[in-house]
Amino acid sequence: MADTNSVHKKGGKITMSENKSIGVLTSGGDAPGMNAALRAVVRTGIYHGNTLFGIKRGYQGMIEGEIQQLTRSSVSNIIKYGGTVMQTARSAEFLTKEGREKAFKNLKRFGIDNLIVIGGDGSFRGLHEFIHEFPVQGIGVPGTIDNDLYGTDFTIGFDTAVNTGLEAIDKIRDTASSHSRLFIIEVMGRTSGYIALYTGIGGGAEEILIPEAPMDIQKLCTKLDTDHKRGKQSSIIVVTEGEETGGALEIKADIEKVINWDIKVSILGHLQRGGDPSAFDRVLASRLGYEAVLATMNNQSDKMVGIVNKIVTLTPLEETWSKKKVLDLTYLTMNEVLAAQPAPSISLTC
Ligand code: F6P
Repeated sequence: MADTNSVHKKGGKITMSENKSIGVLTSGGDAPGMNAALRAVVRTGIYHGNTLFGIKRGYQGMIEGEIQQLTRSSVSNIIKYGGTVMQTARSAEFLTKEGREKAFKNLKRFGIDNLIVIGGDGSFRGLHEFIHEFPVQGIGVPGTIDNDLYGTDFTIGFDTAVNTGLEAIDKIRDTASSHSRLFIIEVMGRTSGYIALYTGIGGGAEEILIPEAPMDIQKLCTKLDTDHKRGKQSSIIVVTEGEETGGALEIKADIEKVINWDIKVSILGHLQRGGDPSAFDRVLASRLGYEAVLATMNNQSDKMVGIVNKIVTLTPLEETWSKKKVLDLTYLTMNEVLAAQPAPSISLTC
């Protein structure tokens, strides 16, 4: 007898025919590729006979009842756009029991018993709490530019944010070398150094400062000073906003005390969150959205879908923020080698 509750991934076939009412929302900071994930969730869900509801403005829209049924065409032509057509919010009200009760009442009104939440760790904490309080099932889809979630090699939006950061660094490099300046470029990522590491390596930065490998500021100054005296005319430092020594402005103030160099700061900020998603993010988001529906139909809950070493995985939501995603520091060592300034050769004359 066929198991009507199982998803047969090997042949890519689903034998389950249960009709679920699935609510989908985007939450927390927007990330390029969220629309592609939404599209995949809605289309996969409808294809398999489920009813799909879009919840606007994340958990805040759930509290305020901004819910509507979606059709296949509701998500037409959105795959190429950044941001999220469902809009998003960081809801303080959802942190309260009263807020979550209101949200549950609204889900009941629409008969929604399954949620798919596209967001980062804050959104997953909210989902985890909510589904433990109320009879709702929930699956998370990793959507954040920070790439800081355990249980997936890459989060939706990271690749695009890195490429946007790179474009900026390439342009700043022109000015840095034309004016013989030292530029300190601050990128997003909260306390996760992934964006800084990837944009720094890709942009050929001389120094990359990330929270995972705190750098002694005195050592940094000595190194910069030596490089400058050896003839290095321009230099680029990429720093994560949450780096221990502080952001770009604090680091500039520290370096200025020691080195006589024209130093400029550029804080990329929200620039990195927008823009059309890269091909990588569109494909990743489509796959994860598709898998989120299969997991839902397979009665999985309280888990995040991710891809680790090319394998689709389900990780308990709680682990996505409580376990630390390991950043391979070899990349940092490699960058030090690639950016090393050789000592000037001494020519001996007799
Ligand atoms: O989590 C994504 C992110 O862009 C972080 O890198 C950044 O610190 C934060 O969101 C900014 O949040 P907001 O847009 O709410 O200021």
